[in-house]
Amino acid sequence: MLSTVLLRASRSPFARRAVTSIPVTRKVVDRFVAGEDMDAAISAVRALKAQGLYATLDHLGEDTTSAAQAAGIRDSYVALLARLKAEGLADAAEVSVKLSALGQALPGGGEQLALDNARAVCVAAADAGTTVTLDMEDHTTIDSTLRVLKVLREDYPWVGAVLQSMLHRTEQDCRDLAYPGSRVRLVKGAYAEPASVAHQDKPEVDAAYERCLAILMAGGGYPMVASHDSRMIRAGRAAAQANGRTAGDHEFQMLYGIRQDEQLKAARAGERMRVYVPFGTDWYGYFMRRLAERPANVAFFLRALIGR
Ligand code: FDA
Repeated sequence: MLSTVLLRASRSPFARRAVTSIPVTRKVVDRFVAGEDMDAAISAVRALKAQGLYATLDHLGEDTTSAAQAAGIRDSYVALLARLKAEGLADAAEVSVKLSALGQALPGGGEQLALDNARAVCVAAADAGTTVTLDMEDHTTIDSTLRVLKVLREDYPWVGAVLQSMLHRTEQDCRDLAYPGSRVRLVKGAYAEPASVAHQDKPEVDAAYERCLAILMAGGGYPMVASHDSRMIRAGRAAAQANGRTAGDHEFQMLYGIRQDEQLKAARAGERMRVYVPFGTDWYGYFMRRLAERPANVAFFLRALIGR
């Protein structure tokens, strides 16, 4: 219930104005977001690398409303990738991109615009020697995102995609994408989705996650197990082992600021652990989805509000 309210609020301009105008919000946001600019993102990657962790960088932004805004986000990804290369960090970091930030939802050719912008990001990633993963947004965008993925992979076969176990369609999408060279980040799904397209109860989402894991691990691609849930992580390890996989042919991923102890433990045990590092000023939607995932985060926010 609370999580549905928070997810609805994440799309509301009124709630956005209210939440972002509260001065202490920033302090709570800092737990989940590396900082506002590229320097902060680079520092976060350097710190993670020093601890044996990998990163995927997300320049925060979604629901772009103009081609100029989309071009700005594209250019900042291109600059970020050049910076990773210049600083010798491209072996430890890739980028995650939301197609809605690159113009996907704009009327009259948004998908083509997002494809063109994503292609420019891929050119920069290829030059830096790293990869790009397409984030997955609400279910109405999935066919479009998978079409863009298919076209990008013709020239850049290392482009990855996210699949969300909460959606009924995802087991089939996993089968379709479990081919050699295909990078798939499996998540539970962070958007409020109707019962017509998505499992509504956590046990069903979890069971679907395990079925999807089994498909991806048995396939020929590179599965990325993105979850903070110990049960899913154990299932990922078991499925990797059952399919004779070793540390270099799959990885685990978590979000910046969540379960850092587990992130380090996995890296120290020789697993590849990648941290999703968001940065930028447009943190509202991302922050609200993190609050929705965990009531304790809301309590943390409320305690900060009343100064305790
Ligand atoms: P679950 O929500 O069941 O949490 C299990 C445990 O993890 C909790 O009990 C708690 O201990 C801890 N935990 C989880 N969330 C927490 C939080 N916010 N704060 C503190 N502790 C928390 N979604 C999407 O729809 N599209 C996408 O592209 C992506 N991309 C993505 C990349 C990566 C690397 C990750 C890790 C996640 C995403 N997600 C995503 C988000 C994902 O769909 C999901 O909402 C969250 O990962 C939470 O689900 P868990 O699998 O962690 O399990």
